[in-house]
Amino acid sequence: MIIVIDFGSQFNQLIARRVRENGVFCQVEPSDISIDRIKTLNPVGIILSGGPSSIYENDSPAMDKALFDIGIPVLGICYGMHYMVHILGGKIKAAQKKEYGFAKLDIIEELPLFKDLGSGFQCWMSHGDSAEKLPQGFVVTASTENTPIAAIANHEKKFYGLQLHPEVEHSINGSLMIKHFLFDVCQCEKNWSMKSFSDGAISQIKDAVGSKKVIMGLSGGVDSSVAATLIHKAVGKNLFCIFVDNGLLRINEKEDLEKSLTKSLDLNISFIDAKEKFLSALKGVTDPEKKRKIIGNLFIEVFETEAQKIEDADFLGQGTLYPDIIESKSAFGGPTSIIKSHHNVGGLPEKMKLKLIEPLQLLFKDEVRKLGTELGINPDLVWRQPFPGPGLAIRIMGDITGHRLEILREADAILLEEIRNAGLYRKLWQSFAVLLPVKSVGVMGDKRTFANCIAIRAVTSNDAMTADWAKLPHDLLGKISNRIINEVEHINRVVFDITSKPPGTIEWE
Ligand code: XMP
Repeated sequence: MIIVIDFGSQFNQLIARRVRENGVFCQVEPSDISIDRIKTLNPVGIILSGGPSSIYENDSPAMDKALFDIGIPVLGICYGMHYMVHILGGKIKAAQKKEYGFAKLDIIEELPLFKDLGSGFQCWMSHGDSAEKLPQGFVVTASTENTPIAAIANHEKKFYGLQLHPEVEHSINGSLMIKHFLFDVCQCEKNWSMKSFSDGAISQIKDAVGSKKVIMGLSGGVDSSVAATLIHKAVGKNLFCIFVDNGLLRINEKEDLEKSLTKSLDLNISFIDAKEKFLSALKGVTDPEKKRKIIGNLFIEVFETEAQKIEDADFLGQGTLYPDIIESKSAFGGPTSIIKSHHNVGGLPEKMKLKLIEPLQLLFKDEVRKLGTELGINPDLVWRQPFPGPGLAIRIMGDITGHRLEILREADAILLEEIRNAGLYRKLWQSFAVLLPVKSVGVMGDKRTFANCIAIRAVTSNDAMTADWAKLPHDLLGKISNRIINEVEHINRVVFDITSKPPGTIEWE
């Protein structure tokens, strides 16, 4: 295994992910980890992460210097490199010019990290300090225009340092540098897989839960379905799921979930029909934030009422992913993501004295899909595009009524059918219809119409933090528009949203 020492970088799970992608087990540990614990874990290499601090600040993160006497390879990234230089007797100084963004990396010594990579390629820099004097035994192995000491090595001890961030996608060849560290320096074996992750997670859940009960909300989406499957494999019938139909779902949402998950798993599941409750509370509400608050609070209320019927539940299962916690609040923009992660059923675990089980919290969406596939979950479910907790409420601009929900459901089903037929469903992060609050004039069968307008939204993205509008083929757009106008009553116009995120968001509300 490899240990990533957490010096406070936003990216340390990304480092762990890059290691896992190479089939090597990896664990992130705090910087105050003891040397004894490191020896017990018996890693074949250590990666020191970056971090926001400067090495000379009071309270800047540090770890036991004895790390460098254990005899295992160490790779320091950014602050991790500064720490290594500083603690081993070199000097770090505040850079004259902060370097943030792209830089050209000139390679001075190719081996081992830059093997076969050439020179002069793009890397991502983000630092205020840099190395000025190296400790004994170290040499400079790469530089950039602003940073003469951009990479260092002590070949004898197998200590390496990178001022750049190899873990972010902007660094061309970054993951190859990590790969070289794993296999050429640490001699790692490629023996970690989603299967081993899933076996480990199941046995951890078993140990934590014992014979107690776990309750969890199922939304019909990938994350909660994969988390529920894992938990079910660990505790079987002691898992109790609750699916709340809030009246804001798409066509066949409940049926699809029943078909693809609950049948194959023999889950305990209560389907709660709360349509009336939600729709009457939303009557006349047009402000997006108010809609979200009403839906979030009602969800908690309904979930709590149902959960209390299950006696002796000690645990709450949730499908929280790493991007949900990467930003202190949520990947989905603050207090609005009530039905997603910690904030989904925020307050519930404490209020009901429940302990959280979040088996996916180290994973990214694509890893969750791999895990879902590994667990044998129906591919239709594994590859479902994300659907927001507040559902169609935030895709109907203005007033939410039964009639407007019907219109949107029909248009959305046509859009998704055509996207699937064109073989694009899995390639798009999301694709959906939005009902606009405007009416416009049209002409159909020689008659004047004055009817509603649908917007088509389709985006590509890796994690929803940023997104590009998808360049859908014109003939596909034409077909979708034609079908919606012909088949959905009260729609006479279709428009296509060409806004990326930022400056737009993926959803319209
Ligand atoms: P935005 O609109 O902020 O959305 O670009 C980013 C991603 O988050 C989803 N989304 C939500 N998911 N509860 C959720 O579970 C929410 O309140 C929520 N709001 C947005 C959205 O569909 C997109 O994938």
